[in-house]
Amino acid sequence: MTDFRRVKGTRDLLPPETAVWAAVEATARRVFGLYGYHEVRTPLLEHTELFVRTVGESTDIVGKEMYTFPDRKGRSLTLRPENTAPVARAFIEAGLQAGPLPVKLFYVGPQFRYERPQKGRYRQFSQIGAELLGDASPWSDAELLLMLDRFLRELGFTELEVLLNTVGDAPSRRAYAEALRGYLQPHADALGADSRRRLETNPLRILDSKDPKERELLAGAPALGDHLTDAARDHFATVCEALDDFGVKYKISDRLVRGLDYYTDTVFEIVSRDLGAQDALLGGGRYDELVSDLGGPRVPGIGFAIGEDRLVDVLPASFRQRAAAPPPVLVVPIGTLPAAQALKVGEELRAAGVAAEVEAAGRALRKSLERAGRLGARWVVLLGEDEVGREAVTVKDLKAGGEQHEVPRAALPTYLATRMEPVESTG
Ligand code: HAM
Repeated sequence: MTDFRRVKGTRDLLPPETAVWAAVEATARRVFGLYGYHEVRTPLLEHTELFVRTVGESTDIVGKEMYTFPDRKGRSLTLRPENTAPVARAFIEAGLQAGPLPVKLFYVGPQFRYERPQKGRYRQFSQIGAELLGDASPWSDAELLLMLDRFLRELGFTELEVLLNTVGDAPSRRAYAEALRGYLQPHADALGADSRRRLETNPLRILDSKDPKERELLAGAPALGDHLTDAARDHFATVCEALDDFGVKYKISDRLVRGLDYYTDTVFEIVSRDLGAQDALLGGGRYDELVSDLGGPRVPGIGFAIGEDRLVDVLPASFRQRAAAPPPVLVVPIGTLPAAQALKVGEELRAAGVAAEVEAAGRALRKSLERAGRLGARWVVLLGEDEVGREAVTVKDLKAGGEQHEVPRAALPTYLATRMEPVESTG
């Protein structure tokens, strides 16, 4: 045993689980590609200020959860806790607003938050996300949600719940923040320290409170829905109508405000009952002010990020089975045949795209067959001096009770390929 352990809240992903992750990611790449999204890869490290300015000073993420440290020159850097602000930064830095809009980007990769680890909550976790920049139309909100719906259905999900809300455009939010502050101010004594601070900085954050006393107080608070501008109301109505048209089921949840400050208008989460306390499989929404808040042009945006760890955790069994790699063929040299001869057959199979393991250890045949069983192999290719002389091999079909056939060596890849169970492509 070693004294070295993985860092708390991080995970080692090992085979065969990694194959499941890879298949999920391949499906995301394929489906997002159908909608015109291309991959973006931003650094894990960013200047701390990027997240302070966008995710927001009064949020849990910035206030409590970031891995922030000074580099050797004393600059404050942060391991990215999310990927939307980095994508917006990269968009501005590359001048993408000058090109054709909208720009559609997706990403897959690790994010870091110093949270209390529990099931479904890690300090390093992976997100699969997508961002659409440069289109303010409610139809782009609808299309993004259709893409998510298609992706999740392709993974075999049927029982997920889509929660939808609007947090209004900037004028709606300003009006609502005032109304909420006006309502909460007389009760300031009943609020915890965090919420009292937020009352000044960003009262909308208080809506996120989990404290039972604060929740009770919030039950009587003014509703954001009553402070929407006509434009915000119309935008949301069009998104809902579009989803109705395409038969995407959703539930309007006026409690849904999300834990990051950059949202405007449409916000959404998809939750799964199978996840337990951390039930949000993904979250997203519109952020029409984010790019300009970073000093960029006025470019609207919308996106989402899926928690990949959580997604894989509740993945339907049907997809898991399809994601498993096909078992290899085992090539076994018989008697005194040099391992090099068996290796040659292995190479011929691999060249033809058939996965092969070569038994080079000179084990007894019984041991080799045991190994074939452990590998889940159906076919064992036996090769002795006689076979080499005849330019043939003996193929043993473990599924057919060990039945054996001699096959010309040149025909072996085709012989096996045509008899393999078809493996559904997940990518
Ligand atoms: P978020 O809601 O903070 O949004 O995170 C999105 C998803 O990441 C969550 O729904 C959850 O599945 C997963 N997640 C978050 N924290 C953890 C954790 N500690 N452990 C495991 N999974 C976690 C965002 O990050 C936004 N950037 C989403 C977005 C993209 N909005 C617009 N574009």
